[in-house]
Amino acid sequence: MLIHASVVPIAISAAVETRMSATRTARPSGAGLAPSNGVPSSEPPEPTPEPGHRYPHLPETKTLSAWRDAAAHCRACDLWKTATQTVFGEGRRTAKVVFVGEQPGGKEDLAGRPFVGPAGRVLDEALAAAGIDRETVYVTNAVKHFKWRPSGKRRLHEKPTRSEVAACRLWLDAEIGILKPQVVVCLGATAAQALIAPTFKVTQQRGKLIPSPLAPHVMATVHPSSILRAPDEAARAREMTLFVSDLKAVAKVIRALN
Ligand code: URA
Repeated sequence: MLIHASVVPIAISAAVETRMSATRTARPSGAGLAPSNGVPSSEPPEPTPEPGHRYPHLPETKTLSAWRDAAAHCRACDLWKTATQTVFGEGRRTAKVVFVGEQPGGKEDLAGRPFVGPAGRVLDEALAAAGIDRETVYVTNAVKHFKWRPSGKRRLHEKPTRSEVAACRLWLDAEIGILKPQVVVCLGATAAQALIAPTFKVTQQRGKLIPSPLAPHVMATVHPSSILRAPDEAARAREMTLFVSDLKAVAKVIRALN
């Protein structure tokens, strides 16, 4: 059964309920209230469409495919107008780890799948080096539409605004609420500032496993595209080693669960 968009507050409550039921089962006692590592942890913000915008019909069922179908019609901000399609997350329903990037890139926008372009190849390589099989994880983004500006024939990536991230939060909450992962890995500042704290500094606080209302562990590390932007081969190799080392800490958590 679908909820009509004219009752957005009720629809949002459904998503928040999804998130909160995940919180009830996933949150370790005391997590989110007194973090041990100095990183502020708070309840996530209410997902909010941009002014004059609205969410589409939202499913009551807690299945990824139903939420994916609904997200395809999202009009909660203007990004859908210039994107090819909504790029929802993908991966195993039983995934214990959810990776959250910023937004789809040009390749992902055309393919309709997250992390299938150059940044995705870096992620794949790092996952393999850390001993994590990409087939066993779930990969998604904080924002589900490609934001770009034209430059000749090229489409150049543009950073999403806070309000675009907030509008898109509904879908990410639904994904995390349905999957109930053990670990959420934020790839880059946009995801980390949305999911951990607005003041989070990836350069200073990367690689730490933080208890969170979202999952027993949340970690932020660099975005794989930052490795592609390293000034030379030596810097790229160094950055990759650090990225793999962060992912190895995630692999250790997963191994301890088995
Ligand atoms: N960068 C992201 O943050 N996400 C993608 O899916 C691709 C590139």
